[in-house]
Amino acid sequence: MFLTPQYNWSYPAALKNALDHLYREWHDKPALIISYGHRGGGRAADHLQQVLQGLRMKPVALMPAIIFDETMLGEHRLLKEPAPNLAAFCAPISDGLMQLKTALTSAY
Ligand SMILES: Cc1cc2nc3c(=O)[nH]c(=O)nc-3n(C[C@H](O)[C@H](O)[C@H](O)COP(=O)(O)O)c2cc1C
Repeated sequence: MFLTPQYNWSYPAALKNALDHLYREWHDKPALIISYGHRGGGRAADHLQQVLQGLRMKPVALMPAIIFDETMLGEHRLLKEPAPNLAAFCAPISDGLMQLKTALTSAY
């Protein structure tokens, strides 16, 4: 399961470096991509999905996106009241985990 922020329409270079570094170890593994950002990070998820497919991984179709809008951030830009602010994202994340479970069951 990959949890990635979005910076300027893509995912961080450190994550790409980790993917490139291991390379063969990713082959044939199912994956779930979850993104977050001010707008949810969907572009980062799209880019990561392409790269995982290039590494012969099997990312599941559902890619939950967690939107952190400004009203959720408090002092030091930390997330305030995580439970109510993140409640809306529990269902898509749960659905994504179910897809991952199904993919893992059929892969091994
Ligand atoms: C330079 C910069 C670029 C960003 N670009 C995007 C973006 O393209 N889309 C988006 O949804 N959020 C964007 N954000 C918001 C970040 O995804 C958000 O602040 C997130 O919490 C960063 O993850 P981190 O706190 O784990 O570092 C950007 C933030 C910064 C500082």
